[in-house]
Amino acid sequence: MTSGGDAPGMNAAIRSVVRACAYYRVSCVGIYRGYEGLIEGDFIELTARSVNNIINKGGTVLKSARSQEFRTKEGRAKAFEHLQENEIEAMVVIGGDGSFTGAVIFNEEYNFPIIGIPGTIDNDIFGTSHTLGYDTALNTAVEAIDKIRDTASSHNRLFFVEVMGRDAGFIALNAGVGAGAEEILIPEEDLGLDRMLESLKKSRRTGKSSSIVVVAEGDKSGKNVYELAQYVEENLPEYDVRVSVLGHMQRGGSPSCFDRVLASRLGVKSVELLLDGKTNLMVGLKDNEVISTSIAEAIKGGHSINQELLRVSDIMTT
Ligand code: F6P
Repeated sequence: MTSGGDAPGMNAAIRSVVRACAYYRVSCVGIYRGYEGLIEGDFIELTARSVNNIINKGGTVLKSARSQEFRTKEGRAKAFEHLQENEIEAMVVIGGDGSFTGAVIFNEEYNFPIIGIPGTIDNDIFGTSHTLGYDTALNTAVEAIDKIRDTASSHNRLFFVEVMGRDAGFIALNAGVGAGAEEILIPEEDLGLDRMLESLKKSRRTGKSSSIVVVAEGDKSGKNVYELAQYVEENLPEYDVRVSVLGHMQRGGSPSCFDRVLASRLGVKSVELLLDGKTNLMVGLKDNEVISTSIAEAIKGGHSINQELLRVSDIMTT
């Protein structure tokens, strides 16, 4: 199943799981709409040929959902019944930390074997350097910010660009550095609004013709992107300020080669772990090796932002 916010590369992971099952002669069913479909028994038999030509497609052919009902005991009981009826012996859940939390509870209650594949554009999962979709989303965000830069410098404007990540600043920090942003505001660090004003004043003094401030949805300043823009307009009237919210376009599009390869590797590993009798693990990437971490640890471990990159970003605004 794919669950939670969709991410580019989920289809490539579905394909990989299905093909690995076919290779090892294990029958495979897809569960539609994450835990919602599991509760309703909305399943489809998948063979190697069912997943032709999806490696390059964005979204998820199995669809996705954030299920409220699966948070209840009754919901999980219905889900277990459907698994038994259909003689399903194990599950691969492709999703983010919300989906993994559901998986851990379900395993505790029913001792049902589950392997997780981290799929979210936010990259906020412990136990992997990259989640599926993150690389593609970064490239989408950088491409969009480059375009905004063209119009910003034509009009000598300051743009606030909001990128996704309500709890995580990975997209903001990396896309910000990649697109040459003057300031980057993220949920993990409160860099302070005074600092932003100082930096923008300096940009003007030193002759920059345009400025881009990249803001993660969940920025720590507590102000949303429109309030931030207003704050700068009030304090630095010399700036002509505009706001651009990139939004859900960051979740769509054809996955990058990196995400396709990662999905292929993680899908195979998840099937092989289940065939080895392993459960409650999340597969991930570390130093370009496929590794596994307990799902509980992956949820609890949290994420930390790269301090070196913050420093680089600081130096680049000189
Ligand atoms: O977790 C992925 C993500 O795209 C976040 O970056 C964003 O905050 C959230 O999902 C948006 O969720 P929804 O699509 O439910 O509005």
